[in-house]
Amino acid sequence: MEIIKVTGLSGESQVIIGELLENIGSYLPKTKVFIITDENVKAYHGDKFPDLPTYCVEPGEVSKSLEVAGELYYWLLEMGADRKSFILGIGGGVVCDLAGFVASTFMRGVDFGFVATSLLAQVDASVGGKNGVNISGYKNIVGTFNQPKFVICDIQLLKTLPHEEYLNGFAEIVKHTLIADSEMFKFIEENIDALKVYNPILLEKLVIHSAKIKASIVQADEREKGERKKLNLGHTWGHAVERETGMSHGKSVSVGMEFSARFSIKKGLLEKRDYMRLLNILRELELPICIKVNPRRIFEALSKDKKKNGDAIDFIFMKGIGNVKVERIALDKIKEFIEIG
Ligand SMILES: NC(=O)c1ccc[n+]([C@@H]2O[C@H](COP(=O)([O-])OP(=O)(O)OC[C@H]3O[C@@H](n4cnc5c(N)ncnc54)[C@H](O)[C@@H]3O)[C@@H](O)[C@H]2O)c1
Ligand SMILES: [Zn+2]
Repeated sequence: MEIIKVTGLSGESQVIIGELLENIGSYLPKTKVFIITDENVKAYHGDKFPDLPTYCVEPGEVSKSLEVAGELYYWLLEMGADRKSFILGIGGGVVCDLAGFVASTFMRGVDFGFVATSLLAQVDASVGGKNGVNISGYKNIVGTFNQPKFVICDIQLLKTLPHEEYLNGFAEIVKHTLIADSEMFKFIEENIDALKVYNPILLEKLVIHSAKIKASIVQADEREKGERKKLNLGHTWGHAVERETGMSHGKSVSVGMEFSARFSIKKGLLEKRDYMRLLNILRELELPICIKVNPRRIFEALSKDKKKNGDAIDFIFMKGIGNVKVERIALDKIKEFIEIG
């Protein structure tokens, strides 16, 4: 078992990797606790949940909405939740983002914790205290920075994760290595076949490593004023791909990382050799590197996100494996790259 600490403005958060969902009771406060989960997670692992009031949402991005958050507020009120209550999110990134958002806003904020059940949630979404919901498909438009009291990453739960969802998790793992750890990138290259099937020892190593990278970046810049922006590698393009195609988050980020790497070559920041290594690893991990949709449509989606971005955007370029650079560029520069190459 490994414990990683993240100290944010809202307090300290512990990411506990290797703990079991069955032991959750010892982490819960002696107040009223309410569980938020999704139907898949409940169906597979509900027998390990503590016997507490539970609200089950529809699986997938569709539940990361203000409408579902509203239903949850009503449910909490009906169930007699108060300011001292505690919310426990048990699920993937969607449940963590939603449960964290509801907990942070209900009665001006109640304490909360997560049991992260997908690989993507364990290595990324559950760590760092960013919570939020989407509006009309635009990602994370409404949200909060607020640290969970704890995050339990039970590696055993990943046994039931569909293959596709593994791959989604690997997209964020690769992202973390591109930002900060060329050795880990090499480790993935060398162990790729073993990694594609459920292997608890390897997975625990990866989750610890990846969560540590995320935690240290968040620790340095919780409110995303500088360093934390690097975690958005592949996400500027990726979020627009996700909105336009409805493809999963991890796969969209994979497409976004390829875009970012190609753009970085164009800018003279990245060597072709490193770009090829990235393409290889994504292909080996069965992650997409391109899509059939016209890039102009993706750009339209990206620029419609103007409320968030303005006319310029903090774009994350690659300078090598394990080295990225945040640069503010005009949206027109992205357009130019798409049109002319
Ligand atoms: N807050 C952050 O910092 C942050 C970071 C990265 C991603 N995210 C968000 O996370 C979301 C993606 O997370 P995700 O990929 O976990 O999606 P998800 O929560 O939709 O989970 C993927 C699928 O796996 C199922 N599932 C989860 N755990 C399972 C298990 N143990 N066994 C069987 N099935 C299981 C879910 O029901 C769902 O169908 C996106 O909305 C993304 O924006 C947030
Ligand atoms: Zn992401």
